Amino acid sequence: MTKKKASEQYCLGIESTADDFSVGISTFEGEILANMISVYMPEEGGIHPREAARHHAEVASKVLEEAFTNAEIKPRNLSIVAFSQGPGLGPCLRTGATVARALASYLEIPLIGVNHCIAHIEIGKLQTDAKDPITLYVSGGNSIVAAFDSRRYRVFGETLDIALGNCLDVFAREAGLRQKVGLPFGALVEKLALKGGQLIALPYTVKGMDTSFSGLLTAAVNLLKKREYSLEDLCYSLQETAFSMVTEVTERALAHTEKKEVLLTGGVAANKRLQSMVKVIAEEHNARFRTVPTQFAIDNGAMIAWTGVLAYQHGAVTPIEKSFVKLRWRLEEVEIPWIS
Ligand code: ATP
Ligand code: FE2
Repeated sequence: MTKKKASEQYCLGIESTADDFSVGISTFEGEILANMISVYMPEEGGIHPREAARHHAEVASKVLEEAFTNAEIKPRNLSIVAFSQGPGLGPCLRTGATVARALASYLEIPLIGVNHCIAHIEIGKLQTDAKDPITLYVSGGNSIVAAFDSRRYRVFGETLDIALGNCLDVFAREAGLRQKVGLPFGALVEKLALKGGQLIALPYTVKGMDTSFSGLLTAAVNLLKKREYSLEDLCYSLQETAFSMVTEVTERALAHTEKKEVLLTGGVAANKRLQSMVKVIAEEHNARFRTVPTQFAIDNGAMIAWTGVLAYQHGAVTPIEKSFVKLRWRLEEVEIPWIS
């Protein structure tokens, strides 16, 4: 049996903004045929951009090959190549962009530069059938509440300092936890939090529609070092405080826009406690709650492939000479022609 149909068109998407190198293949109808992810995990400390980029370069050909094998197509069957053009870490982005440019040039097919944040939203909509949601996008690098309004996704609120996922990751590292493939720091905190139950007072910072996690992180790490409370209770309290903050902002965006759907996406969307909190506020506002399956919530090539299809079908192609990476590319800078 083969997945390939004679009439079908395919887009290959490359994701390499941070610690993942991933290749996805999508049909022009949005069927995901492959989504291979290789995660770079440093032995110690946070992500070093150049080390992560070296990992991406090393695994690129293997991950590409796996994607073609999984999709049961050949490179010459591709119609377009898409890549994460930003935002992200320079060396990592450049490695993915180089692979994408080489592939598109060799195959003589169009190249499409995709905004990573928009891709997180579009794959969420595709996977959950949400049409016009308020999106809470929470990951290691971003904490954003966004919704579509007149030609663009608009940011209603975001973090003023570190992202929610980063706050969980740094706390976990300080606590001496060790992440594994399939068990990122956030998931380790989630497991421990399930065993905690005492709510310890920690800084709760919401300014207007924006959030701040650095004071919360510092306070939690200080308490950790004092050894007054159990790690389980600290994980529980960190989650309750941080998740309440993003939930509050999401609720206000929902009340203001009166949208009928809430979409939770990004790596932290895998967290069951966060899911349940956001679900409650969605239901209070008679909105449907949707969350992205984990393989599409973390950084993945499928989301780049699918967003590449949407852009290409509406005339957005990136000439090679304009395919330089954009480290701080904000999502509201991008016009979205595929939503009317
Ligand atoms: P971006 O470039 O979009 O900011 P990213 O590089 O941080 O993305 P993602 O894969 O989207 O990558 O998100 C990773 C984050 O998700 C990490 O902070 C990780 O700890 C967190 N995470 C993963 N699983 C869970 C979980 N079960 N609970 C909480 N956080 C989680
Ligand atoms: Fe991401």
